[in-house]
Amino acid sequence: MSRIHPPEFGDLSPDISEILLTENQIQQRVGELAGEISELYRDKNPVLVGVLKGVLFFMADLLRALPIATEVDFLSVANYGGDSRKQGPVRLVKDLETPIEGRHVLFVEDVIDTGLTLNYLLRTLKARQPASLEVCVLFNKPTKRLIDIPLRFKGFDIPDRFVVGYGLDFHEKYRNLPFVGLLKPGVFSPKL
Ligand code: XMP
Ligand code: MG
Repeated sequence: MSRIHPPEFGDLSPDISEILLTENQIQQRVGELAGEISELYRDKNPVLVGVLKGVLFFMADLLRALPIATEVDFLSVANYGGDSRKQGPVRLVKDLETPIEGRHVLFVEDVIDTGLTLNYLLRTLKARQPASLEVCVLFNKPTKRLIDIPLRFKGFDIPDRFVVGYGLDFHEKYRNLPFVGLLKPGVFSPKL
């Protein structure tokens, strides 16, 4: 697969200290996950559920790689406190439009850290009595996990570092990088 990107990603790449996963590594793994997922959900017409906005590229690439019938829906959460590096309880600010009772639901997440966000959302969805509820996460940070959540499909284990790109942001920036990388320490200094 080849895609065209502006060389060096314009004004974003000077802020990146290290590429953790390249575009090719990510795309290859997404393709593999799509293969595993399609085996489980063939003829089940699953609903893929994602949390905005970080899952944007993962969901799009995953859906395009799935050779089976699926539906997709999104919800959105806000962390009380508003820090992009989170902590604290979450609040549902946009709910699903799809009734999921009796449906096979695959929860698609970009990154799991402590697991608190996902745990809250899974409890919320479980209460609606889906036929099944599984999790597919692209980036798993196992180090700071507080709640054990079974991950049926997992892309990569990554270190406990704040990462950006492929949908993940710092103050809403860097989502459009096609790779996942680390920010230079200076970028974290006070802004806005
Ligand atoms: P928990 O700890 O609840 O956190 O599993 C999951 C949420 O925290 C955010 N998060 C990140 N966002 N780069 C980001 O851009 C990261 O490295 C990162 N780690 C955690 C994210 O919102 C995720 O849904
Ligand atoms: Mg997220």
